Amino acid sequence: MSRHVLHQPETPLWLSARAAVVLVAVLVFAALAAGWAAARPATVFVDGQRVRVAAGSTVASLTEKGVVSATAGDLLSVDGAVIARRGGQAPDIERNGLPVDDGQRLYTGDRLVSRDGRDVTESVVTTEKAVPFETRFEGKGPLLEIKTLGVPGVMRVVQGERSGIEVTSTVVSAPVDEVVLRTAPRPGAKIVALTFDDGPVPGQTDKILDILKANQVPATFFALGKAVKRHPELAQRIVAEGHQLANHSFSHPAFTRIDDKAVKWQVQASGKTIYKTTGVETRWIRPPYGQTDTRVLKDLRALKTHVVMWDVDPQDWRRPGTDKIVRNVVANAKPGSIILLHDGGNDRRQTVAAVGKIIAELRARGYQFVTVQDIAAMK
Ligand code: NI
Repeated sequence: MSRHVLHQPETPLWLSARAAVVLVAVLVFAALAAGWAAARPATVFVDGQRVRVAAGSTVASLTEKGVVSATAGDLLSVDGAVIARRGGQAPDIERNGLPVDDGQRLYTGDRLVSRDGRDVTESVVTTEKAVPFETRFEGKGPLLEIKTLGVPGVMRVVQGERSGIEVTSTVVSAPVDEVVLRTAPRPGAKIVALTFDDGPVPGQTDKILDILKANQVPATFFALGKAVKRHPELAQRIVAEGHQLANHSFSHPAFTRIDDKAVKWQVQASGKTIYKTTGVETRWIRPPYGQTDTRVLKDLRALKTHVVMWDVDPQDWRRPGTDKIVRNVVANAKPGSIILLHDGGNDRRQTVAAVGKIIAELRARGYQFVTVQDIAAMK
């Protein structure tokens, strides 16, 4: 059959069986030669040194084996300390004078030149920080008033992104100091103000009111909103008999320990209760425990209140005995004094018993009694 095919005239002569055998042999030889060449180790030059490397070696594999010894630079902080070793620029490697990729395969005769990567300094970030203001107190006295509101300043800080180390800091705007005035009533006339905190409480406040009435002495009651709510008739009597009814918060928390919102609520809830009960709209407040700080004073100022402390404190709440309370007040009172006493908070029999004696003793020394509002008006 094949003979028959061979005799076809269009079949080329060179595609004879012998020629096919030769062609196959050539192809096999070429394949073997290529395989042998591929498996043969290469001889390359790394930074001037002749090195025999395994077939198929790449720039990356030589770096991994330490044949190429150049390393990456370090990542430095803004003050020059090393944050990350080898965290900087990658090593710079050239093959035959041209930049080369890590994956480049190497052939005999290739020349590699490597240089260590440069150190890189971390980048910087710019942030703005508040500069707190200082609070200065001016003067002396029991009446507190913010004269100048404190305003925080602004500082622009440039710092290392990784290390946080400060490079520069610039005051963009300086803080404005807060100035709190502590004023005292002008000590011209011999006047004092009696004040009673933490009431009204039945059995105590009413007894004090009886004594004040008998002596025709006005006083100031810093009442708790919740006590006014419970004993409206006492709050109404305080006002009806010419005394000043003022605010001592709703439930007596230390304002320095509650947030702004709670301070506001304490002042307003108590103020509303006093107003609904007596029609008195008071702006006078004594913070519970006399505790204030810059933040609280700012809150109280925002609520348009006058902050009243005291300068004579006989510690009647410790119940040191009626005579001690009287002696302490008489010894420390001076023209313009605001005297701290309590009609609530606990058993106040000692205080109740002391009030008449205090009035008598101070009157004997030429003192007159006024409310806080009146004494403040005289400053
Ligand atoms: Ni109190």
